[in-house]
Amino acid sequence: MTQKQLVEQSINDPDQFWGEAARQISWTRQYDKVLDDSNKPFYRWFTGGELNTCYNALDVHVENGRGDQLALIYDSPVTQTKKQFTYSELTDYTARFAGVLQGLGVGKGDRVIIYMPMIPEAVVAMLACARIGVVHSVVFGGFAGEELAKRIDDAKPKLVVSASCGIEVNRLIEYKPLLDEAIRLSSHKPQSCVIYQRPQSICELIEGRDHEWQTLCDQSEPVAPVAVKATDPLYILYTSGTTGMPKGVVRDNGGHAVVMKWTMKNVYNVEPGEVFWAASDVGWIVGHSYIVYSPLISGCTTIVYEGKPVGTPDAGAFWRVIDEYNVSVMFTAPTAIRAIKREDPQGEQIQKYPMKNFRALFLAGERCDPDTLDWSAKLLNVPVIDHWWQTETSWAIAANCLGIEQLPVKSGSPTQAVPGYHIKVLDEEGNSKPKGELGAISIKLPLPPGCLPTLWQNDERFIDSYLSRYEGYYLTGDAGYLDEDDYLWVMSRIDDVINVAGHRLSTGRMEECIAEHVDVAECAVCGVTDSLKGQLPLGLIVLKSGVDKDHQQIVAELIQQVREKVGAVAAFKQAVVVSKLPKTRSGKVLRATIRSIADGTEVKIPPTIDDISAIDVVTEALSSLGYPKQQD
Ligand code: COA
Ligand code: AMP
Repeated sequence: MTQKQLVEQSINDPDQFWGEAARQISWTRQYDKVLDDSNKPFYRWFTGGELNTCYNALDVHVENGRGDQLALIYDSPVTQTKKQFTYSELTDYTARFAGVLQGLGVGKGDRVIIYMPMIPEAVVAMLACARIGVVHSVVFGGFAGEELAKRIDDAKPKLVVSASCGIEVNRLIEYKPLLDEAIRLSSHKPQSCVIYQRPQSICELIEGRDHEWQTLCDQSEPVAPVAVKATDPLYILYTSGTTGMPKGVVRDNGGHAVVMKWTMKNVYNVEPGEVFWAASDVGWIVGHSYIVYSPLISGCTTIVYEGKPVGTPDAGAFWRVIDEYNVSVMFTAPTAIRAIKREDPQGEQIQKYPMKNFRALFLAGERCDPDTLDWSAKLLNVPVIDHWWQTETSWAIAANCLGIEQLPVKSGSPTQAVPGYHIKVLDEEGNSKPKGELGAISIKLPLPPGCLPTLWQNDERFIDSYLSRYEGYYLTGDAGYLDEDDYLWVMSRIDDVINVAGHRLSTGRMEECIAEHVDVAECAVCGVTDSLKGQLPLGLIVLKSGVDKDHQQIVAELIQQVREKVGAVAAFKQAVVVSKLPKTRSGKVLRATIRSIADGTEVKIPPTIDDISAIDVVTEALSSLGYPKQQD
């Protein structure tokens, strides 16, 4: 069957379609219903069913004879370390760490925050939580203490798992002071912390609260997986929305396990026993789904790579890993390929590695420019597939599903809807836009299994953010169009979320942080086009009247403030002081107009503008920063 036919089948008969997929998962209690629509718009999948996600990711493979197969390869050019774990070893390690968690009084339904670098123990901690029905929430290591504190206050974890340090290319990041600061700032105080001491930096532990990972593991007994409801939460993953408060995306156990297994074969065309590598971080959704759950539930070998595409040590890093571990399919963000292309435009490094088993490269996380896609497809000589999805869905909404059929690639489009998703492009009134016309990309409810059932303890925000704009539809927040072949073209966000190096960030959060500066009256942060990172944040700052401090100094202070409060990952490095911001008469800052001035694209000035002279002010200020820039 074609991808389109399967999409139709999945929409017309979701019970049959997902019921079939669910047979691939080991249940401890059979579900009563595949799709439960008894409480619209809160659709649930596999109600009545019970299972354990960790069992499906580990033990089941040991029982089925894969005990000696590699489950996880750790490759860390930044520490010159390589380690491997078979399914038996990873099961044992995870079961012991689950024993540690249990020993510290953590049990079913409790939350644990995981704030870790890219080491195998991050994966072990996630799976150990799943094993005993604990809800994990991984916080990306590039976020600063204040961001961590917000997540602690929302998730209210009983325990935090962390490590002494993370290692960037040539910089050691002490995690412990960030964690201590976060707990100092948060109103909710976790009972205990388990810290993995890395040899690169041993941190001090706070007596009574902190425990050392290895000591506890040595004393612990392995514990068995516990059955949880299909609809019980497996994890919460916070993602940027338009406000400073991130959204706690909830993932359930049953639907998630089913789609993780289904996508490895149908989207990526990867079989059990093969090596699948997602070069991301466990702190992001790509890491959750495609470093941890999908490859392991599918009986594949996954890779935890602690390094960068360039600089660790060179632009051949990815090709070396693919070659060394016989990777069949790889997944990364376009920005990583752009970084490689910039250093090695002729692809000389690619020629050094035979990559015998390599079959396809998948890209996602941000819009993929055709140049990047075409460059990599030509030099790697394998299909390069752009696919589109979000933290909220946990798996691809639009893709070229290599396990179903290989559709022709149109560079710049993530291809067609994936089975499960009924994609519609809507106008302001909620009518379908004609083919080729831009609108709000929406998904007709119900969302398929694995997608968010709600936001953590916040049904109201879930409805407000996603379901209230168009009745019966989920609003993705992206704008785009469907072409005459039903290929989707994802063009931009319709909100103030930006995407920097494949990382989703909130300009609202950065603005909030800048506004806290004593000299700032108001500000606007916009995402401007960048040839490496896709977008970069740029701040326009209006000072309080009477402030006569040096502007350069204020800008430097603001850059430091965002780095300390939001984190280095925000990459907030450019700002300029202006006398006014362009706004509508109702006071809304014209961010799209500012963006187009910076990008050098057609500047559309809405008739509702309050003071037209603000356009000249902004144009002049941006020109002092070198905008519009020549993009390479
Ligand atoms: N802990 C602490 N700090 C971190 C961090 C972590 N886990 N990850 C990143 N940072 C820091 C970096 O050191 C950098 O700090 P700096 O401002 O002092 O240089 C900053 O956050 C920005 O990091 P990054 O976005 O990684 O940019 P970079 O300039 O170091 O590297 C790329 C550029 C293109 C190589 C890199 O962005 C990349 O590999 N991107 C791929 C993204 C990706 O995999 N996304 C996941 C979605 S699929
Ligand atoms: P995240 O939740 O961090 O995965 O970010 C999701 C957002 O990233 C989407 O809503 C899009 O705005 C953007 N995005 C992800 N993948 C793609 C893609 N292939 N093409 C265009 N935009 C993408």
